[in-house]
Amino acid sequence: MTLRALVPYFRRHPAKLVSGIGSIALAAAIGLVAPLLVGNAVDALRDAASAERLLRYGVLLVGVVALQGLFTFAQRWILVGLSRDIEFELRNDYFEHLERLPLSFYQESTTGDLMARGTNDLQAVRMLCGPAIMYGSNTLFTATGALFFMARIEGRLTLLALATMPLVAVATQVFGSKIHVLFERVQEQFSTLSTRVQENLAGVRVVRAYAREESEQATFRTANDEYVERNRHLIRWTAAFHPMLQGLVGVGFVAVLWYGGLQVTRGVITVGEFVSFNFFLSKLVWPMIAIGWVINLVQRGSASLARILKVLETEPAVRDQGTLAALPEIRGRVVFRDMEFAWEEATPVLRGIDLEVPAGATVALVGRTGAGKSTLLSLIPRLVEPPRDRLFIDGVDVRSLPLAQLRATIAAVPQETFLFSTTLGANIALGRPDATETEIEAVARAAGLEQELEELPDGLATRIGERGITLSGGQKQRVALARALLRRPRILLLDDCLSAVDTATEERILGHLRREFEGRTVFLVSHRVSAVRGADQIVVLDRGRIVERGRHDELLAAGGAYSELARLQRLEEELEAV
Ligand code: GTP
Ligand code: MG
Repeated sequence: MTLRALVPYFRRHPAKLVSGIGSIALAAAIGLVAPLLVGNAVDALRDAASAERLLRYGVLLVGVVALQGLFTFAQRWILVGLSRDIEFELRNDYFEHLERLPLSFYQESTTGDLMARGTNDLQAVRMLCGPAIMYGSNTLFTATGALFFMARIEGRLTLLALATMPLVAVATQVFGSKIHVLFERVQEQFSTLSTRVQENLAGVRVVRAYAREESEQATFRTANDEYVERNRHLIRWTAAFHPMLQGLVGVGFVAVLWYGGLQVTRGVITVGEFVSFNFFLSKLVWPMIAIGWVINLVQRGSASLARILKVLETEPAVRDQGTLAALPEIRGRVVFRDMEFAWEEATPVLRGIDLEVPAGATVALVGRTGAGKSTLLSLIPRLVEPPRDRLFIDGVDVRSLPLAQLRATIAAVPQETFLFSTTLGANIALGRPDATETEIEAVARAAGLEQELEELPDGLATRIGERGITLSGGQKQRVALARALLRRPRILLLDDCLSAVDTATEERILGHLRREFEGRTVFLVSHRVSAVRGADQIVVLDRGRIVERGRHDELLAAGGAYSELARLQRLEEELEAV
C-alpha cells in the first residue's frame, strides 16, 4: 500500500508521535468529563439547588475546559510540527532523487509536472501526516469514550442513536471513492497548468518573437478553466457530503429525544443522565463529520503520495554496479571497440565504431548533423549507459570504473550550455567551488573571455542569467569552456563548443587552447575544418559509422567527404573575402 512509504518517516520521530497522540488522548478524555459534570449538576440542582453548589460546578467546568484546551494546543503544536518535519524530509528526498535521475527521465516528464509534485502534492501529503492523523485519532478517542458513557446510561437509547451509522459508513465509502478520483483529476490538471506556465516563462523569447502571447493566453485560459471546472466538480461532492452526514446525525437526535424523553418519564433514567446523554451525542457529531474529512484527506494524501513515489521509485539508470576497479590514476587512453548504440530500440545511432585515442591525443569528430557525434561523446562520462565491453578507459571497461572517479576525470562542454542565475565567477567554478580567483581568471582568459572580464560591470562578480546580465550565445559557450578547463580534466570533451563564435575569435581561442590540450585527451567536435585541422586524428562520422579517418593532409589527399567539406568552406571564405 502506498501509505506504507511514510512509515520510515514517522519512525524517525517517535517522541513527537507518541507525545502528540498522547495529548490527543488526554484532551479527548478530559473533554468527556464535561458532559458527566453537567449531568451531575442538573441532578444535584433538582435535589437541592444552592448558589454555592452552582458555583462549585461552574468552577469545575471551567477548569476542565481549560485543561482540555491546554492539551488541544499541545496536540496541534506537536503534530503539525511533525507534519512539517516530514514534509521537509520528503521534499529533500524528492529533490535529491531528481538530481540523480537519468536524462531519459527528463525527456519523458515535463518540468511543470515535476514542480507540481514537489509543491501541491507534497502539501496534500503533509495534510495527511498532520491534520489527518490529529483529527483521526481525536475522532477515535472521543467516539469510543462517548459511546462507552452513553452505553452506561442507556444501552437501547445508544443503539437507537447509532441506527444511522451503517448509512453513514456506506455514504462515506461511496463519496470517498468518488472524491478520490476527482481529486486526482484536479492534481493532473494542475500539473498541466504548471507545465504551460513554466514553458512560457522559459520560452518567453520564442513566444514574443512569434507573437504567440494571445494564443498562449487563450490556451492558458482554457487550461485554467478546466482546472476550476474540475475543482467545482470536486466541490459539488465534498459540499454534499457534509450536510448529508449532518442530516443523518440529525435524524438520530430526533429519535433520541423521543425515546429518551419516554425513558425519563418512565423513571428509567434521570433528567441529568438524559442531559449527559445528549451532550455525549453532540460530541459524536464532530467526529462523524471529521471521519468524512479525514477520509478525504487520506485519499487526497495517498493520491498525491503515489504521484511523488512514482518519481522516487524511478531508478537512477546510471550508477555504480558490479565489481568496480578504481584506478590509482587515470591517464586517459580511450578505446571504443565495435560500439553499437541506440537511443530507441531498432534505430541504431552508432554502428561498429572502432576508435583508439592514446592518452594525451586530440581526436576531432566531424560529420553531418545527426551523424551521432554528441551521442558518442555522451557515452564517455556515462551520461547515458554504454553497452558492456565496448568502451574502455586505460583498458578498463568504463562501467567498471567508479562513477565518481570517471566523472572527476572528465570535463565536458555540451553542445547546449546552461548557466545558473549567479555570478560569472560562480558559474565558471561550478565544478571546483574551491578554485581561487586567480585560477578562475586564468581559465576565463584561456577560454577567450579577456574582453568580457574588462567590460562587464563587476568582472567575475557580475550576475548573469535571470535577474542579471544576459550573455550572448558565443559568450555563454566560452563560459562553459572556462568551466570545463577549470576542472583540469584528463579527458576533455568539447561538443561544438565554439559554434557561436566568429572564425577570427575561434582562431584566437584555439591558439590558447593548444596549450591547455597538452597532456590531455581531447575529443573535439566541430563543423569547421579550421578548428579540427591541427588534431592528431580526424574522424568523419556518417549516419553512425566512421567513414574516414586520418590527419588533415591525409584526408585532403584522399579526396573523400572531408576534402569536400574543406573545399566548400574554403570557397565560402573566399566569397566572404571578396
Ligand atoms: P549535430 O549536433 O547536429 O551536429 O548532430 P550530432 O552528430 O551530434 O547528432 P546526435 O548524436 O545528437 O544525434 C544522433 C541521433 O540520435 C539523432 O537521430 C538524434 O535524433 C538521436 N538522439 C540524440 N540525442 C537523443 C536523445 O537524448 N534521445 C533520443 N531518443 N534520441 C537522441
Ligand atoms: Mg551534436
